[in-house]
Parts: sequence; structure tokens; C-alpha cells
Amino acid sequence: MYPDVRMRRLRKAPWIRDLVAENHLKPSDLIMPFFVCDGVGISEEIKTMPNIFRLSVDMLVQSVKMAWDIGIKMVALFPVVEVGNKDDTGSYALDKNNVLCKAVKMIKKEVPNIGVMVDIALDPYTLHCHDGIFDGFDVDNDKTIDVLVKQSIMMAEHGCDVLAPSDMMDGRIGAIRMALEERKFDATIIASYGAKYASSFYSPFRDAVKSNRNCEDGGFNKKTYQMDYRNGIEAQHEVELDIDEGADMVIIKPGMPCLDVVYRVSQNCMRPVLAYQVSAEYLMLNLLKTICDKNYDDIILESLYSFKRAGARGIITYAALDVAKRLCIAGS
Ligand code: PBG
Repeated sequence: MYPDVRMRRLRKAPWIRDLVAENHLKPSDLIMPFFVCDGVGISEEIKTMPNIFRLSVDMLVQSVKMAWDIGIKMVALFPVVEVGNKDDTGSYALDKNNVLCKAVKMIKKEVPNIGVMVDIALDPYTLHCHDGIFDGFDVDNDKTIDVLVKQSIMMAEHGCDVLAPSDMMDGRIGAIRMALEERKFDATIIASYGAKYASSFYSPFRDAVKSNRNCEDGGFNKKTYQMDYRNGIEAQHEVELDIDEGADMVIIKPGMPCLDVVYRVSQNCMRPVLAYQVSAEYLMLNLLKTICDKNYDDIILESLYSFKRAGARGIITYAALDVAKRLCIAGS
């Protein structure tokens, strides 16, 4: 009891605070998402995501090289698909010449040691912007799985290391795992979006990949397949199902609105948990900088440490490059 116990003793100077810190952030904790588009020499800033760009494959490779050089171990790729290549079934997702296949192949050639993760879902490829086969009323679970399996195999064939099914169809992890095994892709990792909520925090991302229907259609949402944000126990159930079906890691998304879920799942499952600090979280943190002139570096670090404290093994964040650079400088 006070005054014998004085908590402030262990906070009195940086050396002792560093010594007793429970968590440490390293560049290898961070996963950098990139948006890849057709063309050459393209680097186009996304309006709602400051300092994040749509990159053509050549530019992407340069950025991935830089990421590797500053200690980032994995990147997550998302395609920007031109409207002319979109249709109702997302058939461009299965085109071996699509921009994502080119990007994976090129990165594996030019930066062979970095891990490459791709999203398995159809939304960047469909005109209706849903993550699967849409029959006018709802997304058909089992028809969608068939396409996701094909998409997964194609990505594995192109050298993708980690498949990240982000669609939330029931049973897709088991189907993808079985198909991978049948074709001897036994080293392909599945990082399932075990708990992904139907969230408004994805809006800038949908701008980035040009699949945002919110402006024209206020009723558009993904609530029949992505989770209801009123639920937490259900997230644990979803994660358990994905792990039983063969997921190696699980992703929780969005991030900061779901810190309770990150903690709950990290405590209860034996698999590594990744938290995804999504696009609107990134935008909010950036807006603090512009509007309040707050110390952005510190705000970002504090947000990333909240994931570590909650038990996340890795963090997918648009600030990864920025933060890893700073950590390198601080560490050198
Ligand atoms: C696609 C996908 C989305 C995000 C990642 N993969 C959008 C969505 O589900 O509508 C959002 C990521 C972000 O906001 O940064 N299935």
C-alpha cells in the first residue's frame, strides 16, 4: 500500500520505462497494404487516404523493395480493377493476366524473401461491389465458394505465400484448404478474416479500389455476410470454425473498434492473431494531425501498441512504411 508502493518509481525516467515495458514494436510486426493498378509509372494518391497511392506494378515493386529494406516482412496486395474489367460474377478475378497475378509474380521475382498476402474476395471485380456471386437479393454462399477456391488456387500458382479470404462466406476455409492440399500446395498459408465486421470504417478502402457504392446507394451494405458489430461471442465462434477448417492465422477487422475481439481471440485461440487497422482508422488518425496539429507520430504509435497490448502478433496498417522507417532510425 501507499506510501510503500509508489507506482511512479518505475516511470521516473526513460531508461526504467524502457526496461519494464511489456510490449515492443518492431518493423516485422507490421504488414503494409498496397493498392496495385494497371499501367506503367503510375503513382496516384488516394484522396481519402493521405500518402497512400494506387501503384502500377513497376512502382509497386520499388515500394516493396523499400519495405523489405526497412524490416517489413509481409505486404498485403489489393487490386484496383478498371470498370471495363468488372462484371456481375467477378470473372476478372480468375483471369491469369489480371493485375494481381502480375504483381505477385513480379514481387516474388524481384523481392523474393518478402511474404506476399492477397485478399481472396470478389468485391474489386464485381460491378455490384459485393464480395461474391449476387443474385439480386443476396450473395450466394456456395456458388461464391466455388469461385474463391479457383481464385485461391490461381494465386497459389502465381507464388502467393498467404491467402486471406476476406469474404466471410461459411465453409470457404475448408474448401480452400482441401483444394490446396489436392494440388500439393501444402505450404500455402491461410490467414482468414476470422472475424470481419460489416463496418463503415472500410469506406476509404472502397474509394481506393473503386468499389464504393455508398454515394449512389445508401442502402448498400454487406450485413448478410460480414458480422454484426453488436456481437463479440460470435467472433470467437467464427474464428474457431475457421481454425477447425484449416486457417493458420486469423485476422480481426476493423482494428481499434474491435480491440475487445482482438483480446478475446488472442486469449482463447492457439493461432497467431493479426489485427487490421483499416482505412478509416488511418484517415481518422491523419485528420487529427491536420485538424488539431497533434503529434501524429505519437498518436500512430499509441494506436499500434494498443493492438500489441491486446495480443495481436502482427498489425496490418497503412502506416507500416512510415512507422517502420522511424523505428529503423530510432534503432540505429
Ligand atoms: C474486401 C476488403 C475490404 C477491406 C479489405 N478487404 C472492404 C470490404 O470488405 O468492403 C477493407 C480494408 C480497409 O478498410 O482498409 N473484401
